[in-house]
Amino acid sequence: MTTRSATSPITKATIPQRVHGAPDAVRRAPFPADIGNPYLTGPYGPVLEEVTAFDLPVTGEIPVELVGRFVRNGPNPIEVADPANHHWFLGEGMVHGTYLRDGRAEWYRNRFVRSRLVCDRLDEPYPAGTPRSRVDVVNTHVQFFSGKTLALVESGPPAMALSHELETLSYEDFQGTLGGAFSAHPHLDPLTGEWHAVTYDQGVKNEVRHVVVGTDGKVRRSVAVPVSDGPMVHDFAMTQRYVLIFDLPVAWNDTAAANGHPFPYRWSEGRTARVGLLPREGAAREILWIDVPPCYVFHMANAFDAADGTVAVDLVEFSSMFRTSLNGPGEGPPVLSRWTLDAKSGTVAKTVLSRRAREFPRIDERLTGRQHRYIYGAGIQTDRGSALCFDTETGVELAHDFGPGRFGSECVFVPKSDAAGEGEGWVMTYVWNAPTNTSDLVIIDAAQFEGPPRAVIHLPVRVPFGFHGSWIADEP
Ligand SMILES: [Fe+2]
Repeated sequence: MTTRSATSPITKATIPQRVHGAPDAVRRAPFPADIGNPYLTGPYGPVLEEVTAFDLPVTGEIPVELVGRFVRNGPNPIEVADPANHHWFLGEGMVHGTYLRDGRAEWYRNRFVRSRLVCDRLDEPYPAGTPRSRVDVVNTHVQFFSGKTLALVESGPPAMALSHELETLSYEDFQGTLGGAFSAHPHLDPLTGEWHAVTYDQGVKNEVRHVVVGTDGKVRRSVAVPVSDGPMVHDFAMTQRYVLIFDLPVAWNDTAAANGHPFPYRWSEGRTARVGLLPREGAAREILWIDVPPCYVFHMANAFDAADGTVAVDLVEFSSMFRTSLNGPGEGPPVLSRWTLDAKSGTVAKTVLSRRAREFPRIDERLTGRQHRYIYGAGIQTDRGSALCFDTETGVELAHDFGPGRFGSECVFVPKSDAAGEGEGWVMTYVWNAPTNTSDLVIIDAAQFEGPPRAVIHLPVRVPFGFHGSWIADEP
């Protein structure tokens, strides 16, 4: 997310520069104060140092097939003007990465994604392509596309290209072809190699766009779909026939914006909730809207065309969002649901797959747009976290318990090889260990999901609770 306003309790002098060396050489900086907002303290609280640590200690065995980086982005504010109103989705991006090779964890790095504010504090030049708008933060996801590691955000600046070592390179507008905001959740079509996204611009209330970036790294399709009220469209799903656009009752709120709230999106009581089925290569007038019961969905696991002509989409659903909880997504618990959308009748049927609280659904992304079996997720409990694996074929859900005081985050599935079947691979996530206030990179063998992890890589520092990331294998 990108909205931000800030003043400055922190200066360059209090942001330690990167530290190279052994993990125990890491310096630590105090967070300015306990400012009474849960998203600014504890496991959510930002870290104010950029760390480089080599040869990380490992419990277990890192699969030698894993050669590449496990990267994750998240908000990491360095200044907060109004702590009481601070929203979790705000703040400078910070990308955390762990590089694996030859069964070793060669390095861990965390780096601020260079917005103006970060550059000002570190006395660095702004990256090329810095937007004229003050909305320049890129803090939500990181993916690899068209040969580039790209940090991502919705509704504001374009993507940000990063180096292999996670240094900011430049804003990336796809060779000048984007012309507006991009998305935190583009999805790669594994059959075409193209990158699809549903985008919206914070300043434009009356349209969202279906954007396709071609394999040449240029936008080849950008279709404006009319909407009203400036809905927050965080993620989307696609099938072989359709792009699914979720127009739900969280929208820009003029009153909140006028009152200076840094994140002026609110639950809009009475606003129709609907899902649009846009033919993938169709014009906006071809979209079919299907009304759905009011709710909010940040993340879809996947969608596919069912044999009977309906469209199935699996997602994590909240009964409301930003209605009463205005600092973050506190209106749970969310459930895992399947929505079956019938274009002929214009109706939706909902089935709850699991009521176990979770977020961040992911699949084996070789199946994006086609029928999947397994949905991975981050289980949410008060005293511990877990990795979840829901089997849509059997209805059975497995949980990998991280143990008391240990809390996971988004789980990323990595197939063991190109030829591996669905479910044959590893599930990777950063886990915060409360007693030590450090984090681990945990690698679970998906075939022994509830068993001990295959490897636990011990980081010298905490990875704050954040958002999304990817396994980026080294290119051959
Ligand atoms: Fe997200």
